[in-house]
Amino acid sequence: MFLYVANWKMNMPFYKAGDFCKENYYGFENLSKLPDKKIVLCPSYTEIMQILILFKDLELEVGAQNCSARISGPYTGQVSAVSLGEMGCVYCIVGHSEVRKYLSEGNCEIIQKVLRLIEVKVTPILCVGENEDDGIEWGKKVLFSQLEPVFEKIKSLGSKYICVAYEPIWSIGTGITPEVDYIEKIFGYIFEIAKEICPNVNITLLYGGSVNEHNVKKMKCIANLGGFLIGGASLDFKKFEKIVQL
Ligand code: PGA
Repeated sequence: MFLYVANWKMNMPFYKAGDFCKENYYGFENLSKLPDKKIVLCPSYTEIMQILILFKDLELEVGAQNCSARISGPYTGQVSAVSLGEMGCVYCIVGHSEVRKYLSEGNCEIIQKVLRLIEVKVTPILCVGENEDDGIEWGKKVLFSQLEPVFEKIKSLGSKYICVAYEPIWSIGTGITPEVDYIEKIFGYIFEIAKEICPNVNITLLYGGSVNEHNVKKMKCIANLGGFLIGGASLDFKKFEKIVQL
């Protein structure tokens, strides 16, 4: 299954999200019927339930954009992985660069979030990526620092499944994408670290960062690509539809 994960970020408040889904219901229905393709919509927490209800008859999944690192307890303002799983979320994005930046999230918290999600069988979409386009060696160094602590923690859990989304920060929302062969090298490196540290863990690799209807054809050629994490272009149904159809 090739994944198309729509990361709506904080761009779709309650009514807008509801209207967007209702207006494009048949479009989403058609996309959800495409063989070997899976649509995952990731709205804000408050929109999750209404989208699950609106699309209850469609073969598409709903995910969250974040979760708490804790199981439960006195953590005002947080949303637990248990809650997301019980609601019907199948995926949850963790470690997105915007969360790392604006909520000062670090590896320790991200590891705990991945564990919380695995415990309740919600698939984590772990985002990693380097800040600047400063060459492959720099990129690998940053990725190692983000992935190694997580892989070390999950290696003892046996055969689990996670998605890793490679999102170079310099590509998010900028319209600039790395060359295909650069991404392939990065993917190769991620598989190498995973094979060494946690060979039992099954990993799907996603690419995210300025994926749009114009570059999707080229980006789909990336070897070992399991899907896309799409921000801006997922807010416009026509663009999102083209990305999925191409
Ligand atoms: P973008 O965002 O597609 O707008 O670059 C991707 C993301 O941040 O997940």
